[in-house]
Amino acid sequence: MLALQGKVALVTGGSRGIGAGIAERLAADGADVAITYNTAAHRADGVVAKIKDTGRRGLALAAPATDPAAVTEAVEQTVAELGQLDILINNAGIFTYGPIDELTLEQFEETLAVHVRAVFVAVQAAVKHLPESGRIISIGSNLAERVPGPGLSLYALSKSALVGFTKGLARDLGPRGITANVVHPGSTDTDMNPADGEIADAERARTALGRYGTTADVAGMVAYLASEAGRNITGTSITVDGGANA
Ligand SMILES: NC(=O)c1ccc[n+]([C@@H]2O[C@H](COP(=O)([O-])OP(=O)(O)OC[C@H]3O[C@@H](n4cnc5c(N)ncnc54)[C@H](OP(=O)(O)O)[C@@H]3O)[C@@H](O)[C@H]2O)c1
Repeated sequence: MLALQGKVALVTGGSRGIGAGIAERLAADGADVAITYNTAAHRADGVVAKIKDTGRRGLALAAPATDPAAVTEAVEQTVAELGQLDILINNAGIFTYGPIDELTLEQFEETLAVHVRAVFVAVQAAVKHLPESGRIISIGSNLAERVPGPGLSLYALSKSALVGFTKGLARDLGPRGITANVVHPGSTDTDMNPADGEIADAERARTALGRYGTTADVAGMVAYLASEAGRNITGTSITVDGGANA
């Protein structure tokens, strides 16, 4: 039997990059998967087609992370259309860069809305449905643990908020058998941070392994945490960054 047979997952920001990689991996492991997207409907449809190719059910939902009602509605629609919700993956994200004296309040509010408020809202909606052995996995960043250069304060602030939130979730939901964890990717080849981008060589040089991460590297850790093998792991953060923070 596949590791996630009979489970239903919701992956926010599943139309591209790491979220798409996670959605496709969870489907390959047997889960039915709903994904949300912001604007890339066509790419979300492409991911759903790949999910369906594995024989699983797939669903694409437009749900801007800046709109709390849309985030809640995505959780409810997943349950309405796929019948249950076992695994919530908080992945939707944006990269915000700028020195502290140049960042605007609008950037602050958008970054916190997408990386923190939307996660809080999705979790509140999901916990009404998650069964015993439910899973909450949030995608942070290795920049939450170590900031290697200037211009990253807001991004690091928003991602490190997930660490404390997740510890609290582990305590709140542990008695129900639900786990909550953060996966911190390092440099991972996506539209947000392409392996052939301007600073990619410097990012690669920072790693211990000398390699740029792939979406499959992150998805593999998420799949492990989502599976029965991850049942005793909660309230923690796991870094998948090729040793960049070592
Ligand atoms: N790539 C890296 O090196 C790296 C490293 C550490 C952490 N991360 C984190 O990993 C996660 C995924 O990043 P990625 O590299 O895969 O990024 P990406 O390729 O830019 O994809 C971002 C995904 O998030 C969705 N999204 C963005 N803003 C949204 C919004 N306001 N509402 C709803 N969905 C939204 C996008 O939807 P649309 O397609 O509709 O725009 C897309 O599906 C993010 O949380 C990011 O911070 C990435």
